[in-house]
Amino acid sequence: MSDNDKVNTGHHVESKELIKNARKPVGELGHQILDRMNKSHESMAQWGVSHFEVKEDSKILDIGCGGGRNIERFAEQISKDGRVVGIDYSEVSVEKSIDLNKKFIDDGIVNVLQGSVSEMPFYDETFDIATAFETIYFWPDFINDLKEVNRVLKKGGFIFICNEAVYREGEMDKYDDLVELLDMKIYSEDVLEESLKTAGFDEFESYINDENDWICIIARKN
Ligand SMILES: C[S@@+](CC[C@H](N)C(=O)[O-])C[C@H]1O[C@@H](n2cnc3c(N)ncnc32)[C@H](O)[C@@H]1O
Repeated sequence: MSDNDKVNTGHHVESKELIKNARKPVGELGHQILDRMNKSHESMAQWGVSHFEVKEDSKILDIGCGGGRNIERFAEQISKDGRVVGIDYSEVSVEKSIDLNKKFIDDGIVNVLQGSVSEMPFYDETFDIATAFETIYFWPDFINDLKEVNRVLKKGGFIFICNEAVYREGEMDKYDDLVELLDMKIYSEDVLEESLKTAGFDEFESYINDENDWICIIARKN
């Protein structure tokens, strides 16, 4: 692999062709990156979900569900009165999430759909919790997309966002290659809170894991 075929992700040097699939997994490399993300995002996801409670009857939407590991995590915590729905605009992500969650789909507590966050096929006020792990970097119209999430949440419900990269003034050079390759946006805690406020959310809780640069934020629809 020549240097031109490689990208510095801020943590490792990787194949550009593989990493391109983080934005919208396609084909064989899409399958590969989803298998990897199901494992590599696990410690961040465990840290993130420790900040909120899932009830047995929670109706949960996981947006940009990727390989489906978070769908599986939530499905393990609900009863037959709860529901987990995954949505992702990548056909390969939907396939992977369905494969991983076959048992829960057969039990009738999980459903996975292909679609974009910008226009979701759900009625107003359907979900108690909407989660977004490692996906908002790619949302095309952030404020309007957050408004769409707000629409499908019940009053009293909340959005949970979890990212392994957070914007910090003067410390972003390490992500230059990745941001260019993936055309992604890395948000600061302040911009996230401001955007959520504009989209109609309030009661913010945000947490930063300094050791790893992880951020998660919870915002409520009242
Ligand atoms: C980096 S992966 C993260 C996957 C998974 N949430 C995780 O934490 O492992 C980003 C996922 O978001 C999906 N995605 C990106 N933009 C999206 C959009 N506008 N609507 C729906 N899904 C989107 C991609 O297809 C991809 O599966």
